[in-house]
Order: sequence, then structure tokens, then C-alpha cells
Amino acid sequence: MTLDVEICSGTEVAGQRVAARIAALIRDKPDAVIGVATGSSPEPVYRALARFVDDGLDASGVRWFALDEYIGLPPGHPQSYRAVLERVLIGPLGLHPTSLHVPDGTAADPEVAAEAYEAAIAGAGVDLQILGIGGNGHIGFNEPGTPFSATTHRATLTESTRRANARFFPSADAVPVECLTQGLATIMRAGRIELVASGSHKADAVAAAVRGPVTEQCPASILQRHPDVCVNLDTDSAAAVYESS
Ligand code: F6R
Repeated sequence: MTLDVEICSGTEVAGQRVAARIAALIRDKPDAVIGVATGSSPEPVYRALARFVDDGLDASGVRWFALDEYIGLPPGHPQSYRAVLERVLIGPLGLHPTSLHVPDGTAADPEVAAEAYEAAIAGAGVDLQILGIGGNGHIGFNEPGTPFSATTHRATLTESTRRANARFFPSADAVPVECLTQGLATIMRAGRIELVASGSHKADAVAAAVRGPVTEQCPASILQRHPDVCVNLDTDSAAAVYESS
């Protein structure tokens, strides 16, 4: 196992530790570029970061780049990832919305929007990327089978991902089918990666990512090839990592 794994007693503790490392980065480099995930996993990180800001951390020079965005939600839809990140990150940290960059899921031509986003990220250079992980091992919306060489692209969500995200929508049918996502090659260019996971429903995916073979069937396993990754787990999501095989 090559990845650095930190097991915490709970998600708030993990969030505090990850946020402390991000705060240190921002103090060191006030114009840092930080890649941000949506979903439940990173929310404790954003809550803890907001406390650092309350205590005087100046994050106003940071540029934030989202991992992904749904295609087809109307502009301003409360579950669009732009709206979610404005709610859980930009608002609580008192930041300007223009510091947040999100792929344009409303673009007439999603492929053109994907290319534009890839160019923007490549130009900015991500210093640190926050990731969650799907129960099927996805990172961003790179579902199993996505080539490791993929850059930002238009992708189709698997049924299991749509079911998992149905909790944010009135019904599973209301979850968009398509998205724009940073590709695995895009994610791998980040200088550092902080992955957060919690809950027993993530245990198999975490174990496959951390100590399974590096395979496109488990997209997160590509992280074993990155030189600077910290995998932050609670005890439930870590349960299968140290099981004897
Ligand atoms: C979110 C994203 C996804 C989530 C993953 C876990 O921007 O790209 O990869 O990180 O689906 O979601 P949660 O944290 O809600 O379990």
C-alpha cells in the first residue's frame, strides 16, 4: 500500500484535520488553487474551513475549481453543483462567487464547455484537490471503465450513482443522467490530493482504491500512482483496508 491513510474517530475530526492542512496551504500561498468536491463527504472540511476563516484566515485570494457539474439542470437549480458549492463553501467562508469555477452544465455544447474547463484548470494549476469516493470507486464522476487518460469530459452517470444521489432530489428519476467531470488525468495533475470518505457503504471501494490493483474498474485506484495523497477515513469506511486477503 503506497497511499498515506489517516483513520479518524469521526467525520468532524477528519474534516478538522484536512481543513487545518488546507489552511496551512492558504497561509503559505494566499493565491492557491483548490479543487473542490460536492456531496456529503467534504462538508465537514468546509465547515471546519469556515471556522478557520472566522478565526482570521484570509481565503479571499484562493481560486476554487469544482470537480464536476450536472448537465441539464436549469441555471440556479438548488442541486446544481454551483449552487451547492455557493451554499456550503463560498457563503460560509464569505468569499466572492467569482472565485468559484464550475463546468458549465447549461452550455449548448457540453463538449465545448468541457474543453474550456480543462483549459481553465490547466492554466490555473491545482495545488490541492479535495475528493470524495463513490460506492463504486468513482472519483469526480469518472465511473468504472473511464480511461485513466481522460481529461475533462461529458459523462453518463451509472444507475448506482443516480440512486446514491437521489437523496438530494425529489425522486431518483429527477437525478440528471449526464454531467461534465474533470477526468482522471486532470485530477492526477493536482499537486496534492485529500480524499475523504466515511461510512460502511464506502468500505469496499476504499479498500479497492487503497490496496487493490490499479485498474480502470476502480477509478480511485489511480491515486496509488500519485506521489502526494492522503486518504482520510472514519473507522467504518476503513474497515476493509486492513482485513487479511
Ligand atoms: C462530487 C463527486 C463525487 C462524490 C462521490 C461521493 O463532486 O465528484 O465523486 O465525491 O459521489 O459522494 P458523497 O460524498 O455524497 O458520498
